[in-house]
Parts: sequence; C-alpha cells; structure tokens
Amino acid sequence: MPSKSFELKNSSSGLTTSLPVRAGTLGPEVLDIASLYKEQGVFTFDPAFGATASCESKITYIDGDAGVLLYRGYPVEQLAEKSSFMEVAYLLINAELPTARQLEAFSHSISRHTMINESLLRFFNGFYHSAHPMAMVSAVVASMSAFYHDSMDIHDPRHREIFSHRIIAKLPSIAAAAHKHSVGQPFIYPNNELDYCSNLLNMFFAVPCEHYEVDPVAAKALDLLFILHADHEQNASTSTVRLAGSTGANPYAAISAGVSALWGPAHGGANEAVLSMLEQIGSVENIPKYLAMAKDRSSYFRLMGFGHRVYKNFDPRAKIIRETCHEVLHKLGDENNPLFELALRLEEIALQDEYFVSRKLYPNVDFYSGIIYSALGIPRSMFTVMFAIARTVGWVAHWLEMVSDPAMRIGRPRQLYTGPTRRDYVSVALRRG
Ligand code: CMC
Repeated sequence: MPSKSFELKNSSSGLTTSLPVRAGTLGPEVLDIASLYKEQGVFTFDPAFGATASCESKITYIDGDAGVLLYRGYPVEQLAEKSSFMEVAYLLINAELPTARQLEAFSHSISRHTMINESLLRFFNGFYHSAHPMAMVSAVVASMSAFYHDSMDIHDPRHREIFSHRIIAKLPSIAAAAHKHSVGQPFIYPNNELDYCSNLLNMFFAVPCEHYEVDPVAAKALDLLFILHADHEQNASTSTVRLAGSTGANPYAAISAGVSALWGPAHGGANEAVLSMLEQIGSVENIPKYLAMAKDRSSYFRLMGFGHRVYKNFDPRAKIIRETCHEVLHKLGDENNPLFELALRLEEIALQDEYFVSRKLYPNVDFYSGIIYSALGIPRSMFTVMFAIARTVGWVAHWLEMVSDPAMRIGRPRQLYTGPTRRDYVSVALRRG
C-alpha cells in the first residue's frame, strides 16, 4: 500500500478524500484517483490524456524534459549502437536481454513464421492499385484473425507466444506484398536464410527476372531505424492497441487498430508528411515563409517532424537518426542530398526562432527518418508502414503485459457531458423550422 497520500478537499461539500500517491521506479509520482468518484461523486477531466497515466508498465521509460528513452532500463543510444532489432524485440517482449542461445532460438522462430497464407496473399488483388499501403496493411492484419482461430486464446500463454512470433514475422511480408501490389510486381517470397531487415529489403526490391543482392549498408540502416521505432510507451497507437485488446478482442484485431492509429500525420504518418513538406518548401529561401505559416494559428500548416507531447527537449531518436543520415548518405554516395541539407537548415533556423524555443519544439523521430528511407529507395507512401513493422514489437509487448495481468479490465473512459439535458421526443409533423 502506498505510504504517501494527497488530500483533496471539495470546496462546496467540504468533503476531503485522501488519494494514495503511487511511485514508480522512475518518473513523477501519480495520484491514484480510483476512489474519487465513489467518495466525491466527481470524475477527473483530462482530454487527450496530457496528465493521465492510463496503466502501470515495466517496458519503456521516457523523461521528456531530459530527452531520455529507456527500453527495459537500457538507454536507446546504447541499444542503437550495440544491439540489433531482433535482440531489442526479444528484450521488449521478454523483459531481459537474451543469451546467445535465446536470441538464436527467437530469431529462428521469427524466421520460420515469415510466410503468409496464399489465400491471405490473394487479398491484395482486391485492392485498387493506388490504395495507400497503410490501408492494405491494417486490413490484412485484421484479416489474419480469420486464419488463426485455433491459436487465439488470449489466456493461453503458448497461444500468446505463437501470435507474437507470427505477427512480428509476417508484418514485413505483408508490407512487401502491399508494396509489390502498388508497383504491379509479383510478390517475392520470404527468404529465411536472411536476417529480418535483409529479408524485408529482398522482398521489397528483388524481382524474379534478375539477381538482387541486399546492400548491407541498407540492411543495417533499416535495423537501426527499427530499433529506434520499436517502442515509445503509451503513445496513441499503443494506447489504441491496449484499449482494443482490453475488450478481449483477438490480438490481430488489436494490432490492426494500432496500425490505423499510427497512420495519422500527428503520429507515425508524420514521416511521410515531412518529406512532402520539405519538397513543398523547396529551398532555403522559402524557409521563413513556411515558418511563418507554421506559427500562424489560422493556418493548418505545422512544421511536420517537430514537437512532441512528451519530449520538451531533443528527441534522442532524432539525434541518432540525424547522425545516421550523414553516415548512410555518405556510404550510398548521396552526401549532398538536397532534402537532407534543407532539413538541416530548417532545424537550425527553427531552433533559433522564439516561437519554437519558447514552446520547446524540437525535431522528433520522424523529422529525419524519411530521408533515410528515401535514400534506401523506399517509396514515401511506405514510410509509415516501415514504422508500423518496427512498432509492432512494442504493441505486442504492451498487449502481452496487459493480457498477462489477471487484473486486466476493459478500458472505459468517462466524459464531461455538455449536450442537451433530458427532453421529450417531438413527432416530425410538429417540428418547426
Ligand atoms: N509546428 C508548429 N507549431 C507547433 C508544432 C509544430 N509542429 N507542434 C506544436 N506546436 C505548437 C502548438 O500550436 C501549440 O502552440 P500554442 O501553445 O500557441 O497553442 C504548442 O506548440 C503546443 O502544441 P500542442 O499541439 O498542444 O502539442 P501536442 O502535445 O498536443 O502535440 C504533436 C504534439 C506531436 C502532435 C505536435 O507537436 C505536432 O502536430 N507535430 C507535428 C506532427 C509530428 O511531427 N508528429 C510526430 C510526433 S513524434 C512520432 C510519433 O508520435 O509517431
């Protein structure tokens, strides 16, 4: 039981409630308001959840003021430098770094689940050729539940494990199928001899009529981006997965809900929007004009890839990706990439501008990631799909944490109702106006 409490006095009724204060291992303490309605008859009001901890979690920690991101306690910078996406996936899901044997067994299992059912593959033919890949991916992920009825008991640990491995393994195959459908090329089957990212690149870029060799520079860059995108605690899509999953819905349905939430430009869709914005800005001379638009409240234009709900300092992922941009573009012989140069100048100018400084708006993970994806030849409409492949690991970790907890309850927020008070039905003949 928490030893600290917070006294809350209702100034109209004089009633005082003692709210328990709960402390985590890191971060601010939280007030446990579960008894508030029962004792005081009031709810709390926190639209967009700016000040509400929706659950307890042991997976990822962010200190937004200090620009710190930890996966299971490990700084993301260390993981980015020394680890691999498969190892990070194991860590996020299983809470500890794997031994060599555990990593081998995990990677082997993932590589043995990469094929997608031929009937599922045929779904892609039903999509219009210009369908956005995120639309195809969310639909096909939801459809997976129609194929795995026999292993979707959320209370069975073995079923949960099979689901986790299946979804992580098949997301690249689904993404590649969406891409191949968009460009009218035949689907390339997964090659289980290749590592996770090389297999993805092979499925993306190989064609049946000629030999394709995966560029190790590209595979390494993708692996790094996937590490950085793997989890970010209770962001909008992860919260969506938790909320959908809290109803007891099957996990494929919950992950599909997460894919849909990620698609929005305020979330994962920002990587695609950043590139469109940079092209729209076009050259350094136009930056002031677009910054003025971003600052104008009456304009819908925002500086995409800037700002974050939690980070009020540099997003540590953006720093790593910016450095990686330099390295990757250099290795690919594209060091004078004009969009990268424009992005660097835009960051520099925005960070000297009082509007961005006073609001603590810094580049976020999406500001530079699209430049790398672009340099690797990945089409812009696929950027958010790339994010979804990586974030699937985080969604799975959070879903597992939630459903393994015997105290799991359906998520059900309350509201402040401001609609009409009770009134009686008027038949259509008597309505005026
Ligand atoms: N350009 C211009 N002004 C901005 C921006 C921006 N990118 N971001 C925030 N602001 C302003 C905002 O207008 C507000 O100003 P004021 O106080 O005068 O009303 C202030 O900064 C606070 O912003 P907010 O909208 O209350 O912040 P939020 O926490 O609700 O939104 C955000 C966070 C990420 C949605 C927002 O910063 C944004 O729209 N950024 C651009 C889209 C983007 O890059 N999204 C990717 C986020 S990181 C990866 C991910 O989550 O997937």
